[in-house]
Amino acid sequence: MNSEPSNVVKFYNGEQIPLELHKVRVVQKLHLVPVERRLEAAREAGFNTFQLSTNDVYLDMLTDSGVNAMSDNQIAAMFRADDAYAGSQSFDRLKQAVRDVFGKEYLLPAHQGRACENIIARTFVKPGDVVPMNYHFTTTHAHIDLNGGKIEELVADEAVNPVSTNPFKGNLDPGKLRDCIARHGAGKIPFVRMEASTNLIGGQPFSIANMREIRGICDEFGIMLVLDASLIGENAYFIKMREDEFRDASCADILKTMCGLADLVYFSARKVSSSRGGGICTNDRAIAKKMEHLVPLFEGFLTYGGISVREIEAMAVGLYETTDLTVISQSPSFIEYFIGQMVDMGIPCVTPAGGLGAHIDAGRFLPHIPQEDYPAGALAAAFFIASGVRGMERGTLSSVRDEKGKDILADVELLRLAFPRRVFTLSQVKYVADRMKWLYDNRDLIGGLEFVEEPPVLRFFMGKLRAKSDWPEKLAAKYRRDFGESL
Ligand code: F0G
Repeated sequence: MNSEPSNVVKFYNGEQIPLELHKVRVVQKLHLVPVERRLEAAREAGFNTFQLSTNDVYLDMLTDSGVNAMSDNQIAAMFRADDAYAGSQSFDRLKQAVRDVFGKEYLLPAHQGRACENIIARTFVKPGDVVPMNYHFTTTHAHIDLNGGKIEELVADEAVNPVSTNPFKGNLDPGKLRDCIARHGAGKIPFVRMEASTNLIGGQPFSIANMREIRGICDEFGIMLVLDASLIGENAYFIKMREDEFRDASCADILKTMCGLADLVYFSARKVSSSRGGGICTNDRAIAKKMEHLVPLFEGFLTYGGISVREIEAMAVGLYETTDLTVISQSPSFIEYFIGQMVDMGIPCVTPAGGLGAHIDAGRFLPHIPQEDYPAGALAAAFFIASGVRGMERGTLSSVRDEKGKDILADVELLRLAFPRRVFTLSQVKYVADRMKWLYDNRDLIGGLEFVEEPPVLRFFMGKLRAKSDWPEKLAAKYRRDFGESL
């Protein structure tokens, strides 16, 4: 028997249910506003869910970043924070947590994950360099570009296929990596990057067997291996659930094994430790020294790095809690439950279920909308109108234009519904599934979007769009007809 059971229990009637192994002690009132207001709010937001106010949002599934529920122990730790510009004891406690959980000796703090990426890219990426990775994250891509580098995404072809039974779609393809090194030469490759629970392909994990193989190739060519550990807890959970060798291993051991294979580990504490901040850690003093001077320049002194000391305390406790299976299983088990419902109802989604969120396949949901009209963005806006639930577009809107000004079409058009840790209840998840089914049955009503204001970088954050027809009005009217006075 597994010594560390997850939170999934079998009901007497045979149903498998992900049980909440926590109780609610602080609550926040939510607003489920009428569909007419949701339509108006969508228009005001330029059909961009980043532009909505939470005042109009019922369930905020935009992201898990900075919005995971904090534990009683995290909140308690915040009260003992040691306010000091230099040499804060809070930072000592964080360093100890990084040592204990990630097994890394040197820690450079930064205000969030992308700030770590800025420091790493400035230090190691030169114009003309190539950074191979399983898959990019938006901010990683931007920082490597900014420093004159290029990225190469080396997941197996199958990983960008939404429907799959491959348990490790986040694996970096060793054959493709060898080919990349042969094409560019190891000298042009400052590091190989592996992202845990690979975000943009649907929170898909890699296996330790794969990471070992990539480590071997890096050793062969003297290339540094960098691990983006922002979603390492979920990846560790999937390793425990899906990789035979680690079925009986503790989460703590799995985390240490993953980090032990990387020369450099960085993370967004907004995700991994249910707090706010970020950090870069390594056991190689020379690597740490190369980056160190950038921390006071861009972030803050080396013992706080732009992070509030209170959050540093919460980070330390949150890191230890990442080794607790009941903590890290909550979000992926709810996602799996939700994806199970989607599959049962025939709604196209990314399978197998991944970490951080459920991903609806807008490409197959809305085959009548061309990628140039942003089907995933349209689905995000339509779903908000239909439910008050805010998700995030992860498709061509989140991409960029080429030199000729044409959209670079995304590999996958996804609507991501994030499941921040221990935030939602199962009845709320059932509501999301129900409204998604209604929208799927009315999908023909949904049309495309076009930009009205398009920022030059990371356009999905601040961009404003409009509907290419009066489809939002028609969708809201149909909702009103079907649900009557119901919200
Ligand atoms: N790496 C990964 C894998 C991420 O998912 C994120 C953020 C970052 C780096 C950047 O970290 O936000 O602290 O600067 N992901 C968030 C999301 C924004 O919603 O998926 P950050």
